[in-house]
Amino acid sequence: MHTIELRLSCQKCKEKKETVYPIVVNGTKVLMCTKCIDAIMEEEKQKNEMLRKRHLHEDMVATASLPSRFKDATWDDFIADERILESSYVSRLNENGKRYTNEQLRQIVVKIQRVKQQCLRIKEQILDGLSVMTVFTGNTGTGKTLLACIIANDILNAEKTVHYHNASHLVTTITDSEDYSGSIYKYASCDLLIIDNLAGIPSTDNTKRILTDMVDVVYMNSKSLIMISPYPIDNIKHAYYTPVLYDRLFSGINKEMFNIVFDWQSMRGSQFSIGAIK
Ligand SMILES: Nc1ncnc2c1ncn2[C@@H]1O[C@H](COP(=O)(O)OP(=O)(O)OP(=O)(O)O)[C@@H](O)[C@H]1O
Ligand SMILES: [Mg+2]
Repeated sequence: MHTIELRLSCQKCKEKKETVYPIVVNGTKVLMCTKCIDAIMEEEKQKNEMLRKRHLHEDMVATASLPSRFKDATWDDFIADERILESSYVSRLNENGKRYTNEQLRQIVVKIQRVKQQCLRIKEQILDGLSVMTVFTGNTGTGKTLLACIIANDILNAEKTVHYHNASHLVTTITDSEDYSGSIYKYASCDLLIIDNLAGIPSTDNTKRILTDMVDVVYMNSKSLIMISPYPIDNIKHAYYTPVLYDRLFSGINKEMFNIVFDWQSMRGSQFSIGAIK
């Protein structure tokens, strides 16, 4: 006597099942059991989620508009050890034309290390959701923009938002805009705002108003700010003084991390520079 096998095989797990359903996978119709269909749908969901996150990250990176030179910069790109002394650009001569002593050279390395540590802490605090208001000052070519962008890249990787603005470009854009408040809000609202090269803007009522309003948006939303200038902190304080800016920004002046000073010589063009021929 013959028995008829009514159960069909799932074409994925190959097991015989009471019920299998026809579904289309990569354009081909296949019969599958519910367990395998659920597994495929879960896989699909995860793929879509990854794609969504990748697109979101790409959008956030585009909006951040970091200088393309530093858009992939990481902590490894900021050299803060003895290798820095191999660079002909950390000149062996001090401002008076005299050779640095070994002790003085060691102190330069210590200063660079300290700044890197301070920046790592700034990054940690921002990632912890704290509001950090800080100003990077110091000689041209010492890595102020580089370090701000390294911090920014970590913030972006944590799915938080960053806006990088060159001060001069920012002032022109906002001044030319028809919707002043809308622009201030648009350009200032993010987790980390970077305003680079304050030296590029004159100390007029217009620039003071724009800086004050930008900083106020950051402060009111408990977000973070890195301002960058080659001039010392006192120059900035006086050049752009308004009572609100003073209250929002300079009230932190005595905090350890308020002013990060890049007090050494230019590294621009050294073999460590990003993009340099190694
Ligand atoms: N510690 C460092 N390690 C490796 N490269 C460095 C370091 N410091 C600076 N550089 C390199 O030197 C160049 C200048 O750096 P950056 O543009 O960040 O300087 P800056 O302080 O912002 O100068 P400026 O005030 O002129 O804008 C960059 O190419 C950067 O890669
Ligand atoms: Mg710079």
